Amino acid sequence: MKENILNNYEQLCSVITDEIIEQIKYKPKSVITIAGGQTPTGVYKMLSERLISEQVDYSKITFVSLDEWVGLDINTNGSCIETLSSHLFNNLNLNEDQIVFFNGVATNLTAECNRIDNIIAKLGGIDFMVLGIGMNGHLGFNEPNIITENSSIVSLAEKTKEVMTKYFDKQIELTHGITLGYKQIMETNKIILMASGAKKSKIIEQTIKSEASYDIPSTILKKHSNCQLLIDKDAKEVEA
Ligand code: PGA
Repeated sequence: MKENILNNYEQLCSVITDEIIEQIKYKPKSVITIAGGQTPTGVYKMLSERLISEQVDYSKITFVSLDEWVGLDINTNGSCIETLSSHLFNNLNLNEDQIVFFNGVATNLTAECNRIDNIIAKLGGIDFMVLGIGMNGHLGFNEPNIITENSSIVSLAEKTKEVMTKYFDKQIELTHGITLGYKQIMETNKIILMASGAKKSKIIEQTIKSEASYDIPSTILKKHSNCQLLIDKDAKEVEA
């Protein structure tokens, strides 16, 4: 996993946006996954602005969801679909079939996993993925020591439950997530793992120093042949 440290968050988002735009120009029918969460919000903003201002043809791309909280949909501020919609999808002129997203309120979640797996298979897999990293190293909702293959329902780790309040403007009890699995992540052609800020420095350090193991999901990306770790300076410094 190549590592690159950018001076600040702005530069980090700018470099990632460059790469996404390059990908779309290289392959107009690209299938792209960008994580929900706070880290990529700058990317959502820059990407939507630049796709429009640079008149990039994004009419054939498909955005595929990484994950969603079980029990939530677009009606809850802070859900993954709401975050991506309000900061990215709604700024663009996309057809309905250009957004493939987990429905966190599906009555049959196994069928929902199968639905997403089938669409990804039909699309020929994912071309480009931007991942964030959880405080425990989780990727999507692939929590430590849970080994998934394709889309799965996963119990949230205690650490995730602790930090999740930051996403919501009201208290919500959540126990599970629905997520792409390791196979779908590892079969993606190109991956960027992004992190920003001092609070991520410890898990970034652990990711860099540890061997690939499901104890720290982010380390599994070391087995991917085209994955870059892009972080800002603060995510590199160890907190006092
Ligand atoms: P964050 O989430 O970008 O909101 O820190 C990252 C994650 O939990 O994967």
